[in-house]
Amino acid sequence: NNHKSDSRGALIVLEGLDRSGKTSQSSRLLSYLEGLSHSVESWRFPDRNTGVGQMISSYLANESQLDDHTIHLLFSANRWEKRSLMESKLRSGTTLIVDRYSFSGVAFSSAKGLDIEWCKAPEIGLLAPDLVLYLDIPPEKAAERGGYGGERYEQLEFQRKVAHSYQILRDASWKTVDAGLPLDDVEKQLREMVLDCVTTCQKGKVLSKLWS
Ligand code: TYD
Repeated sequence: NNHKSDSRGALIVLEGLDRSGKTSQSSRLLSYLEGLSHSVESWRFPDRNTGVGQMISSYLANESQLDDHTIHLLFSANRWEKRSLMESKLRSGTTLIVDRYSFSGVAFSSAKGLDIEWCKAPEIGLLAPDLVLYLDIPPEKAAERGGYGGERYEQLEFQRKVAHSYQILRDASWKTVDAGLPLDDVEKQLREMVLDCVTTCQKGKVLSKLWS
């Protein structure tokens, strides 16, 4: 039995604009998989609990100013500092539901005008998700939901640019769900996609790296 084909957890990423419902859906998916007795954890990026995460948090709250390239690299470093833990969790059979990942990194920074290839470079070698779920919502509709918390990027004009960047990044492997539907309907669709992915990874799908 080839070691690489051992059963493992799935790396499942949720992406979308601010207020697209990623956070609610992550917690619903967590409960769902727990209910099926799967080993599962819910993660998010930025992980604000690390030293790097605290710098990011203060930047997002407009409490500090950083050059666009600098903050981009901090977001990436924040993923790198979790990479080995991520790999060991997956290999030990735990599925990770991750709220935002490298795609947010590239979409938000390139929406500011940074070169997309430059944005992708520091992400190379991070673990590639087994499934990217894109919660699709028009920026106007997300804004109508209210609750933009006043953080740096939570403005309609900027979210429009981010939506455009996501269009460029999306490829055929992403699964898109209409995030304008009621929460229960979105959840129903996501459950099916997630379960499918978890099963494939249990069967020993090879863990790969970005960008492939
Ligand atoms: P998040 O904590 O998910 O936002 P929320 O306050 O809605 O819970 O993410 C904070 C912001 O950071 C969000 O606007 C997206 C942005 N972001 C980046 O610019 N680059 C990244 O690499 C990541 C993960 C997030």
